[in-house]
This record gives sequence, structure tokens and C-alpha cells, in this order.
Amino acid sequence: MNTGVWSPSSDSLKHIERCRMIDLPRINDPRGNLTFVESGEHIPFGIERAYYLYDIPGGAERGGHAHKELEQLIIAISGSFDIILDDGYRQERLHLNRSYYGLYVGNMVWREMDNFSSGSVCLVLASTLYDESDYYRDYDEFLQAARRGA
Ligand code: TYD
Repeated sequence: MNTGVWSPSSDSLKHIERCRMIDLPRINDPRGNLTFVESGEHIPFGIERAYYLYDIPGGAERGGHAHKELEQLIIAISGSFDIILDDGYRQERLHLNRSYYGLYVGNMVWREMDNFSSGSVCLVLASTLYDESDYYRDYDEFLQAARRGA
């Protein structure tokens, strides 16, 4: 994906249609560029938690779950990786490779991440504190919930 704003095709259904690529502000400077994210301004949730993935070995896959309520902004702070989004009706594979693009992922979207480049770092801004009970880790369980409109 090369454009700054991603919107799924109009036949999208359910929760995947709320996912979008957000073109974050960029302060270009010969000393180095700066990007920032403000709750309510650039993303539709308050940030309660940040976590990041790093030292990711070649061929690794992350994710493999959905969240009942959690919203997230996922940023390739360094390097690149792919994210596959799935709301139980359709899938989209996206490539993140810019530190000024954030992928907003709402609730009830199964995500998998792969194709991490060497030295890549994935920053995630999250709307709630860590809560294991918010996860669907079983795809069939997620699918059933998604299709009954959870
Ligand atoms: P998980 O969410 O499955 O990682 P990913 O989606 O990136 O593959 O989390 C991996 C482990 O880390 C799991 O045991 C839960 C723990 N964890 C926390 O303790 N706090 C956190 O904020 C996160 C995201 C995970």
C-alpha cells in the first residue's frame, strides 16, 4: 500500500471498515524528522498503554488474535512488516513501512503480522491496559462471535 489514507472498498462489512491508515503529522527538519500522535486529534481513543515489538527474528509471526473492545494504532517505527486484518467476512493484507503512518485497528478484527524486515520495530498505542479477558485467541471462537454480531 503506497497511499497515505487507506479505506477499504465499499463492499466491506462489519468491523474491518473502521480500520484505516492514518497519515500522522510530520515535522520535517534537517536535524531529523518528528511525528506525534494526540488522543482525540489523530486517533479516536485515549491512549492508556504503549508496547512495542523488537528483536523480531526472521520468519516470525505475531498477533493471531482479536480484541473484544480494545482499539489500537499500529506503527512501523522502524523497518517494515505486513498485517493481515480479518473481520470474519473479508481479509486485507497491508504493508506498513513508514514511521508516519499509523494503522488504526478497532475491536473485533483478527490480526496477524508477518514479513518483518530485519531490525524492524512495531509500536502499538492501545486504548486500555492489558487485559487477557479482552482477547479472542481462538479463531473459530472469534468467527462465531463476529458472525453473530458481537
Ligand atoms: P500478545 O498480545 O499475544 O502479542 P502479539 O500480539 O504481539 O503476538 O502478547 C504476548 C505476551 O505478552 C502474552 O503473554 C501477553 C503479554 N503481554 C503483556 O503482558 N502486556 C501487554 O501489554 C501485551 C501486549 C502483552
